[in-house]
Amino acid sequence: MRTRPNHTGIPAAGTPSTVLVTGGAGFIGSHACVELLDHGYELIVVDDYSNSTPQVFARVERIAGRFVGAVYELDIRDRRALSAVFDRHSVDAVVHFAAHKAVGESTRMPIQYYDTNVGGTTALLSVMREHGVHQLVFSSSCSVYGDAGRGPLDETTPARPTNPYATSKWLCEQILADVCRRTPEFAVLCLRYFNPAGAHASGLLGEDPHGTPDNLMPYVAQVAVGRRDRLRVFGDDYATTDGTAIRDYLHVMDTVEAHRVALDHFIDGPGMRVFNLGVGRGSSVMDVVNAFSAACGRPIPYEVVGRRPGDVPELVADASAVARAWGWRPTRDLAAMCRDSWHFQQLNPHGYAGSARRPATKE
Ligand code: NAD
Ligand code: WQD
Repeated sequence: MRTRPNHTGIPAAGTPSTVLVTGGAGFIGSHACVELLDHGYELIVVDDYSNSTPQVFARVERIAGRFVGAVYELDIRDRRALSAVFDRHSVDAVVHFAAHKAVGESTRMPIQYYDTNVGGTTALLSVMREHGVHQLVFSSSCSVYGDAGRGPLDETTPARPTNPYATSKWLCEQILADVCRRTPEFAVLCLRYFNPAGAHASGLLGEDPHGTPDNLMPYVAQVAVGRRDRLRVFGDDYATTDGTAIRDYLHVMDTVEAHRVALDHFIDGPGMRVFNLGVGRGSSVMDVVNAFSAACGRPIPYEVVGRRPGDVPELVADASAVARAWGWRPTRDLAAMCRDSWHFQQLNPHGYAGSARRPATKE
């Protein structure tokens, strides 16, 4: 553990300075790399590129004006390979993004989801323990709440996951809570994100999933740029203002800022703490379509189709606990998410395909 300057420029003693990021090539992970590099952290990144590409790191370095550090292509379930990374580097804390995240796919491939999301997390925990690393920020999800009903949901809302993806995150949360109970030195900050969206304002980084996007915002962006002919709106017969489902969209840069703030809070002591990350305001599917249309200056073609199985009418965060605990509040609105997502999509109509790679870290 070293002293490093925090974002206020005041040295923060006792906070981690070298952070291992799993899934750092992914949508949220790559933006987190920028945020952490911007704030003086040394990074070690591991990713198997199952839903990302190594090209992203050249972009991260261009934005941050710094080298990412060491980047390893590995599957976090490969304990030997992961252990070798911990042998080689002195890691203070881990930010764990690596997971499979598509709800629909999880219903078709439940074992793969449990294996990667739960097995990957237990593999990581055992390697961390072997190497005396006990500080973890974990990516959880609002999907653990399932169909919890209307109104902002706080962290005391009972978990009722309704699909293997959500169950895998809930299982991880329970494992992490148990590990913290039985291993007093462990500190886990578990962040339940609602709907992260948007992109880095530079247009260099954004959301570029393999295959057809499952999530609304990247799908709309690909329609706007002409890669897809129209959006299918899943249901307009919900009991909401315009009949389409309501979600709490959170700018990806606000999301990753919360992770950087989290790293300053291991100092609060061991144990597990769980926080929602959201704006606390709901937007319907049509609100997103209209906001994106305003951002790109053209209508988004869409058709209304039936409801998507497993979708719930409304999921909105009560995000007041994290504001009280850490003073973190999101600052960017839906218009900014659409503007930044459109900027990235316009500059990169085919995502990262064909862009430059940085040299790989040598084994
Ligand atoms: P993403 O798919 O873009 O990023 C995940 C990264 O993990 C990818 O780069 C992928 O290649 C990597 N990965 C997957 N399995 C791996 C393995 N076995 N070993 C090493 N790397 C592996 O997803 P994201 O949107 O950036 O999500 C990051 C985290 O946040 C995930 O844990 C996800 O469940 C969680 N989350 C995401 C959302 C969302 O809407 N994006 C919402 C709530 C929670
Ligand atoms: C948003 C709204 C769709 C696509 C999922 C996970 C959640 C979290 C975020 C990981 C819904 C509608 C979507 C489309 C549409 N991820 N939609 N047409 O389902 O709220 O949440 O991603 O943890 O856990 O469950 O996000 O972006 O898929 O959908 O009409 O082509 O847009 O029905 O109402 P969702 P989403």
